[in-house]
Amino acid sequence: MAPSLQLFHPPKPFTHFNRFSSTSSRPASVRCSAAAAPPSKRSYTITLLPGDGIGPEVISVAKDVLVLAGSFEGITYEFREMLLGGAALDATGVPMPDETLSVSKQSDAVLLGAIGGYKWDKNEKHLKPETGLLQLRSGLQVFANLRPATVFPQLVDASTLKKEVAEGVDLMVVRELTGGIYFGKPRGFGTNENGQETGFNTEIYSAHEIDRIARLAFEIARKRRGKLCSVDKANVLEASMLWRKIVTELALEYPDVELTHMYVDNAAMQLVRYPKQFDTVLTNNIFGDILSDEASMITGSIGMLPSASIGASGPGLFEPIHGSAPDIAGQDKANPFATVLSAAMLLKYGLGEERAAERIEKAVLDTLNRGFRTADIYSAGTKLVGCKQVGEEILKSVESHILAAAV
Ligand SMILES: NC(=O)c1ccc[n+]([C@@H]2O[C@H](COP(=O)([O-])OP(=O)(O)OC[C@H]3O[C@@H](n4cnc5c(N)ncnc54)[C@H](O)[C@@H]3O)[C@@H](O)[C@H]2O)c1
Repeated sequence: MAPSLQLFHPPKPFTHFNRFSSTSSRPASVRCSAAAAPPSKRSYTITLLPGDGIGPEVISVAKDVLVLAGSFEGITYEFREMLLGGAALDATGVPMPDETLSVSKQSDAVLLGAIGGYKWDKNEKHLKPETGLLQLRSGLQVFANLRPATVFPQLVDASTLKKEVAEGVDLMVVRELTGGIYFGKPRGFGTNENGQETGFNTEIYSAHEIDRIARLAFEIARKRRGKLCSVDKANVLEASMLWRKIVTELALEYPDVELTHMYVDNAAMQLVRYPKQFDTVLTNNIFGDILSDEASMITGSIGMLPSASIGASGPGLFEPIHGSAPDIAGQDKANPFATVLSAAMLLKYGLGEERAAERIEKAVLDTLNRGFRTADIYSAGTKLVGCKQVGEEILKSVESHILAAAV
């Protein structure tokens, strides 16, 4: 029997986060869609951004899986494929054409492969593929980045941590994405009183920015194991002191969630010492950048990790955390699981289509249980296959669950 993962099987009805007020500190309408009650709209427009390198290979697999899993739930899609990154640069001269953003904004959700590659590495900053991705995130105004780090039982040996430390890890990092030191002003270069060059940035958060990300984290923790750890540096930074104050006040509205606070230096240490202690981790932009990468490495396999970026309104952006892997692009070696799991997050967090998401998650576990592996997660005794075949096996697993349920 496939092991069940807390991440993928929230014990309580799921809350759909995609509609938070951008002006009020309270959610405008938080739709509660229980697994048994899917949303009424069953036809969705999805923007596909395959991007560069292995992006088109993994997006092709994820699209087929979305279509098949959705079909069993009465869901239909209209896909719009647009250019982003190096592919956009080659075709239009810019890394994110206006049309890509406008089509993305008009859709119900956006699924991205990856961008970047050697060819564009020496471009000026405004002509780099990565600039296109940042422009897209900023254009979609996605303020929350959700990064699950789940150690699949079948892949526990891929972790660089000891098996007993890694096994059973199932955590979610909720990172603030549009504020803090990466965007704070003033920033720049200057000269100090000794005539030496300086570089400076500003870590700044408004109460509203903290409130909206914290609310989302409490909601997610509530649907997981009910534990939220807020990570800050409140012993040193004023922005962190405000962060801790607001998160602590908000906890009164979520008595069912156990809130703890941890300094970021300790959190970095605890993540490799005893990662199983974490359920949901809430943190700011820069700490989240670092901790989510650290957490992802516990799983040992970059090709397995999905992510979601969600805003106050409008479509969410769903993408694997890996890059375009130019070293293996076009060789049918890419691991498509992360993108397929991103498609499951799209259904769950972007569309509130919990049941279709679970079909995909179960199919991923089933495919792993049947031993199919791409090279990055291969181990002796399993079956080494390419990206396309993994996709075909996931489709078979989606279908076999339907058949099994029908018997
Ligand atoms: N979100 C994004 O689109 C994103 C994220 C990170 C890097 N990038 C870009 O990707 C390009 C390559 O960057 P990088 O090499 O630092 O990171 P990368 O994630 O592309 O690759 C790192 C290593 O992991 C392997 N790998 C990554 N994804 C894999 C998958 N799905 N299956 C099997 N193996 C996989 C690669 O072969 C490589 O050895 C750069 O241009 C970088 O800017 C894009």
